[in-house]
Amino acid sequence: MRTQVCIIGGGPSGLLLARMLHNDGIEAIVLERHDRDHVLARIRAGVLEWSSVETLDRAGVGRRMHAEGTPHGGTYLSAQNRGFRVDYEALTGKRVMVYGQTEVTHDLYDAMDAEGTPVLHGVAGVTIGNPDSDAPFVTFRHQGADRRIDCDWIAGCDGYHGVSRDTIPANVLKTFEKIYPFGWLGVLSETPPVSHELIYANHERGFALCSQRNAMLSRYYLQVALDDQIEAWSDTRFWDELRRRIPEQAADSLVTGPSIEKSIAPLRSFVAEPMRWGRLCLVGDAAHIVPPTGAKGLNLAVGDVHYLHDALTRAYAGDPAAIDRYSETALVRVWKAIRFSWWMTSVLHKFPGQTPFEQRIQEAEINLLEVSDTAKANLAENYVGLPF
Ligand code: FAD
Ligand code: DHB
Repeated sequence: MRTQVCIIGGGPSGLLLARMLHNDGIEAIVLERHDRDHVLARIRAGVLEWSSVETLDRAGVGRRMHAEGTPHGGTYLSAQNRGFRVDYEALTGKRVMVYGQTEVTHDLYDAMDAEGTPVLHGVAGVTIGNPDSDAPFVTFRHQGADRRIDCDWIAGCDGYHGVSRDTIPANVLKTFEKIYPFGWLGVLSETPPVSHELIYANHERGFALCSQRNAMLSRYYLQVALDDQIEAWSDTRFWDELRRRIPEQAADSLVTGPSIEKSIAPLRSFVAEPMRWGRLCLVGDAAHIVPPTGAKGLNLAVGDVHYLHDALTRAYAGDPAAIDRYSETALVRVWKAIRFSWWMTSVLHKFPGQTPFEQRIQEAEINLLEVSDTAKANLAENYVGLPF
């Protein structure tokens, strides 16, 4: 088989890149390890920056997002059960869109089906050949047969546990990592959200987040210990603990119900540099991971796709040097989101062994946000998303 761009990974990065390339008449094939139902069952991000919304619009996959998503002009922060609002719209003129990653992925699959872009599911043993030459290729097994795709470019959109990043030689690849000493326990429940906007809560018992997908679907998170087992968290224990950590008014009006999904995720900051080696370009989680506190993971993936799409269309239009700037351009934005997510995580979580000094610094950070419009504007600018 031959194509122009071989895309490894059919998550949001891979699908969006394929869609945008198709719109410009550039051919791509997407190789995905899992079946479609598995990809669509993964409950992940819930907040889109407005630049991501506009990118999805430009890609022609925004119709359902605007019909079913909810724009949010602000959010609540709380410390020790007392909340205050950050008005994103007043401070930046921008909003964010609450629309789940699952739905974004769904819309992208529908678009692929309609246009006929091939997405091969259930591929195994993907390997990348000659990425540092002008004739790269990808080999894999699909439906019992060994296959090979020759291509011009390879997009490594295969997430943190994919194969693309490891193809870059150790003496070229530089990685930066910070592991946080806690995890997030997430619950999805078919209940009305406790607040019409998100609540990010700092509490001495640990961080909590109240989010949502729609009027009858809520998403909540609790900071838990890294060695906590999911079985130890009955629904009742989860709701009781959430009530303790959020503002009193919210706790009083919290509607509880059975969880329909419950999982624990570790928190990590990670960056791999460079994001391009020869004809292989890393995109999204394959190149970087953020702790979820700033809602940046999916948005960073959309940003990378924006830059790579731009570079590839320029390259095909006769400006091959455009691709030379991809890694550097993307990383400048990535590092700012890495900083913001690290900062949100540091300010809002209870760290094991946190000293009284560190506790007071955290309280001062949150108080500064409450009283200072300048501090709020800084948070707001980063949360709604820095420009591409
Ligand atoms: P992925 O979504 O990981 O997609 C990669 C795809 O590649 C997958 O479909 C995978 O099956 C496929 N793949 C992997 N290896 C291979 C291979 N060898 N061959 C073929 N295919 C392969 N972000 C937020 O902003 N908010 C959140 O609340 C949030 N929660 C998250 C919870 C979890 C458990 C995780 C893992 C991530 C979460 N994120 C969140 C981050 C966000 O979901 C990611 O940043 C986003 O999914 C990145 O998209 P991606 O397409 O780059 O990678
Ligand atoms: C969601 C997840 C986040 O990490 C976040 O910061 C905001 C919302 C969510 O899943 O809805």
